[in-house]
Formats: sequence, structure tokens, C-alpha cells
Amino acid sequence: MSNLNKVTDFTGTMDDLFGYKSLPTPLTRRQINIAQSPKKNGSANTDSIPYLKELGVAIVDSPQEIQFNTNSKELVHRWSPYVQGFSSSFVQGIFQRYGSEYANPVVLDPFSGSGTVIVQSKINGFQSHGIELNPLLHFTGDAKVNTWNADPDKLMHIIKGLSKTKHFSPPEFLKSSRHFKSSVLKKLERLKGSIDSFEASNSSETSIKKLLLLAFSSIIIECSNLKRSPCLGYCKSKNVDENTPEILFRKKISEIVEDLTAIREIYSDKINTPGIIFHANSLHHEYDKMYDLVITSPPYMNGLDYVMNYKIEMGWLGFADSHAQLKKVKDEMVVCDNVSKGLVRDFSFQKTRYTSDWIEDIKKHISINIEIRGNYRRKDMPEIVHKYFDDMYRIMKKVVERIKPEGRFILVVGDSLIADTYVPTDLIIAQIGKYLGMRIEGIEKARNRRSGQIRSYKLRETVVTLKKD
Ligand SMILES: C[S@@+](CC[C@H](N)C(=O)[O-])C[C@H]1O[C@@H](n2cnc3c(N)ncnc32)[C@H](O)[C@@H]1O
Repeated sequence: MSNLNKVTDFTGTMDDLFGYKSLPTPLTRRQINIAQSPKKNGSANTDSIPYLKELGVAIVDSPQEIQFNTNSKELVHRWSPYVQGFSSSFVQGIFQRYGSEYANPVVLDPFSGSGTVIVQSKINGFQSHGIELNPLLHFTGDAKVNTWNADPDKLMHIIKGLSKTKHFSPPEFLKSSRHFKSSVLKKLERLKGSIDSFEASNSSETSIKKLLLLAFSSIIIECSNLKRSPCLGYCKSKNVDENTPEILFRKKISEIVEDLTAIREIYSDKINTPGIIFHANSLHHEYDKMYDLVITSPPYMNGLDYVMNYKIEMGWLGFADSHAQLKKVKDEMVVCDNVSKGLVRDFSFQKTRYTSDWIEDIKKHISINIEIRGNYRRKDMPEIVHKYFDDMYRIMKKVVERIKPEGRFILVVGDSLIADTYVPTDLIIAQIGKYLGMRIEGIEKARNRRSGQIRSYKLRETVVTLKKD
């Protein structure tokens, strides 16, 4: 605490702070906070010890390839680039691990994103349900799961005959001239216009139309001056020219055609396996099935804004035509730190809220540290943290009610460091699971991550497995 008090009085330069000589450079408040942070070189491993003791569990090291990158070579999964997604091998690993217990599991993913769990379930011939609130991601998952009836030859034929007469203009609010070189923008507008000109007249053609739109939305960021890593930002070093949209679009379509052909050869018996992705809020969704396996990854606390990060595709595909519409979707989601202030204020007056000693303690520390710093990006951060766990509790409660006896709830979760306060998201989620009557079967550390605030602080990504005994 005394260390942090010094920060408020600090008016020096890098030299004074770090004790070496260089040209005087005035420090930003953020740099001062980082340099003086008591969490520098710290780790989640150490900060988790008291929580683990109280929970009576240990975290097992189990390095696993969880991230989406490997999907870029996998059948169907590669149809969309989605950095926040699971790797298909992770989902397959779960099916294999529990294969002897569930011969033909019914699977649920209440945060289905681009549909990895649902696609992988279908490949295995397992019935599955996904729930996704972002309309673009819902469309993406659905297009990957429910278009396997499309005829690959017909798709190629339709591509060749697309009319070039219809023009498309992206919605004004996007300010597309900032996102694309003008020659590239013109080509994209023409390409989207030609896709829109195709009218489907039967179910196989409806699938083809979805695939054309999916291919278009999958290449649009690569055609822009932007990069997703994982947040969307400008990238100076990109080499995009007016031919890029057509080259990338054709490449994506040929991947899809290749995969549809392979599906007909290898997975013809799986084409009709039901994989339904509901466009809904998993908090309000009316679940009508009981599930053996729930495999999911919720948004990470303090993490990505799943709406602003996809606003370009949402606008171009007609899922949003104003910032107000984007905000409406965002405010319905499990809370992120970009949520509107009014929503957080309303939450603070909410009569019944899930809480625990851990959550109250974490909130207290965040408040104190924000007070000491004198300013912070969001002063309402303690309430945002609280709302995250309240949202998670409510969704988990609904999901747990739909898990069959002996069923499992497997969550991939990342922890956070917020205003020099460690938040063991995985352990709090495990604690919520226990409170809801599930047994904590295991917590595995899949990989280390770094805090966005204090880069030398080691966070982790874990797989929390809860079982209904
Ligand atoms: C970490 S991503 C899941 C990625 C997914 N496992 C995949 O492989 O593509 C979390 C997803 O939850 C969605 N989401 C957030 N709040 C939601 C809610 N209340 N109901 C349904 N989906 C929600 C986000 O839009 C995002 O796509």
C-alpha cells in the first residue's frame, strides 16, 4: 500500500523512477502505475494459494492446445477465422476422454461463438445445441453447421454466374473509407452486391447463399487496413490491393467446396445430425433438453468486447446499422469492461445479486487501488466485476438444471488482474459450480497468459470440470 501511495506524488522522469540515465521523458500516469505496481513479476500461481486452500482443490498442469489457430487447417472449422474460438482438437479431446462414459452424448455450448463445439459434435454424430447472442457469430456458427447439404458443384456454378449489376453500400455509421483503401472498398462493394443479387429458391441454394455470405464475412478484415489481435486495430504493414478481395474470396470458396466434397465422402451419414444454434441470450433461453456434456468458454472478465470487435462484419452483413444497435447487443451480453455506465449503475441497485466473501474482498481491493491511483479507466470497475460473476451465476444456474445426472460442465476460463488486484475467475466459477451442487472434478492449467495491464504478471487459462454426481 505504501508503495502505491508514492505513485500519487510522483512527478519525475523514467530516470528517477528506474534509476538509470537517459533523456528525460515525462511519464504517463499509466506508466507510473505499471512501474510502481506491487504485482510486477508476480503470478496467478502465488496469488491463488489462499483461494485454492479454501476451495480444497489443486490446479494440475496440463498444457493443451486450446486456441483457435489450429482450426485454420481443419475441415469446416476453417470456414471462418475466429480468434476467440476453441481448437477443434480440444473439443475432440473431451469427447475422447469421456467416450466410455457417454456413448452418444447430447452436447450444449451456451456461449457457442463461431460454433466449434457444435461443428465438432456434428462431425462425431452427436446431437448438440449452441446459444449465441451476437447475430454475426450466430450466423457464422449456423452456416458452418447447417449447410452440409449444399452441392459443391452447384456452388461453383453459382459463383461463376453471379450478376455484377447490383451495388451494395456499407452502412454509414461504419465510416468504411477509413477501414479500406478506396480501390479495395469498391471491389468489396461490388462483390457483396453480386452475392446479394443471388436469390435462393430451395434449401440447398439457401445453404449456398449462407456460404457465400460466410466466405465474404471471413475475408473482410483481411482486405482492410485493420488487424484482429485479438482486438481490432489499425495495421500499417498490410499489403492489400484491389485484387485482394477476389483472390481471398475465391480461396475461401475453394476451401468450402473441398470440405463439402469431403463431407459427402466421409461424413455423409452425419449431414442430417441435428446441430441447432439458437440466436438467444443464454440467460433467458428456454432450454428444452437435458445434456450429458456442456463444453463452453464464457467471455473473459475484463476481456474482449464481442460486439465492437465484430462491428465491421455485423454492418456489412446487415446485422447492425447504427452504434445504438451495437450497444443494445453489447449490454445484453455477459458484462465486459466496455459496457454502458447506466447498466452498471442499475446493477448496483439490483435487489438480489450473487455474491461471496471472495467477490466482496476483491471488490474492496479494486476500490481501494482505484482510489489510490486517483484515476482509472472505469471507476465502476468493482461493480463491473461483480456483475460479471452475477451474470455467470445466473447462466450457470440455468445450465446446471439441464445437466443429466453424471453429466459434466466443462468451462475454459482465463483469470484477470484488475487495478493490481488478482481475480481468480476460474476458481470463483468453480466455487459457483459447487454452490449450485456440482462437484469440482478438476482444474487444469492449459497455458500461461500475460496480464494486459502488467505484462510481467503471469495469468493462466484453465479448464474447469464440474460433475453432477
Ligand atoms: C469465448 S467466446 C466462445 C467461443 C467459442 N467457444 C468458439 O469456439 O467459437 C464467448 C461467446 O459468448 C457470447 N456471449 C456473451 N454473452 C452471451 C450471452 N449472454 N448469451 C449467449 N452468448 C453470449 C459472445 O458473443 C462470444 O461469442
